[in-house]
Amino acid sequence: MPTAVVTGAGRGIGRAVAARLAADGAEVVAVDADAASVTEVAERIGGRAVVCDIADEDAVAALAGSIDRLDVLVNNAGIWRSATLDDSSRDDVDAVLRVNVVGTWQLTRALAGRFGPDGGAIVNLTSVLAEVGGAGRGVYPASKAAVVALTKQMAVEYAPRRIRANAVGPGLVVTEGTAGEFADPGLQQAIGSAMPLGRLGTPEDIAGAVAFLAGPDAAYVTGQALYVDGGWGVNGSAFIANAVLGYIQSL
Ligand SMILES: NC(=O)c1ccc[n+]([C@@H]2O[C@H](COP(=O)([O-])OP(=O)(O)OC[C@H]3O[C@@H](n4cnc5c(N)ncnc54)[C@H](O)[C@@H]3O)[C@@H](O)[C@H]2O)c1
Repeated sequence: MPTAVVTGAGRGIGRAVAARLAADGAEVVAVDADAASVTEVAERIGGRAVVCDIADEDAVAALAGSIDRLDVLVNNAGIWRSATLDDSSRDDVDAVLRVNVVGTWQLTRALAGRFGPDGGAIVNLTSVLAEVGGAGRGVYPASKAAVVALTKQMAVEYAPRRIRANAVGPGLVVTEGTAGEFADPGLQQAIGSAMPLGRLGTPEDIAGAVAFLAGPDAAYVTGQALYVDGGWGVNGSAFIANAVLGYIQSL
């Protein structure tokens, strides 16, 4: 049975990824900074819970020490701050880069040696905003563009060890993390209908793409970013979505 480590597994997209990989037969190590949620998820999917802040070097070392062997690593844990570049504080910027970029690199470095001789797969969560920018998103898009670059670098550096590395970039998915800003069904409808596919994404949409890139059907795929965004990034709908967001933020 393959072993999969999923970070940020306590809720949202990470929880859906953990459930999907468990349903596909993986033994899941569910990692999150929040103890209560990750314990509940691990119990529900029959996996193991590990409480770990991926930005904390000692906690990451302890996590790595508890894992003998690994086949799949999903670097999903990520944070954002809703502020323009001008309104972002230095603390906001440090926090976003520390978790999304430094945390992703740090956890991967700590676990890379746990893959077996047959290698495995790393899937990093980026965002469509790595490509198109977004109203009031501050340095978050830059952090996710850095995740794409990290993914390519992992692909190159780990290929000799048969470890593939790819990224999945969601569009807008309503999760516990985004619900504060996007709770209004009217707003969800407005942004969803601005998407070429006419709706927002679901955590399961994202989990399906992660499962593909983590699995044998993607055996010859590495260094790629797969955007699962309903077409947001490719036809100008970013501008419509940004206009809706900008309007709401101005109210
Ligand atoms: N929801 C979206 O619309 C969307 C869009 C594009 C990209 N993403 C990316 O997908 C990923 C998941 O997003 P989500 O909406 O499910 O987020 P969320 O806020 O709902 O859940 C994130 C989970 O990660 C955990 N976490 C945060 N920081 C952590 C840390 N330092 N160490 C360990 N765990 C930590 C949180 O406790 C939480 O359980 C993130 O990387 C996010 O940037 C989300």
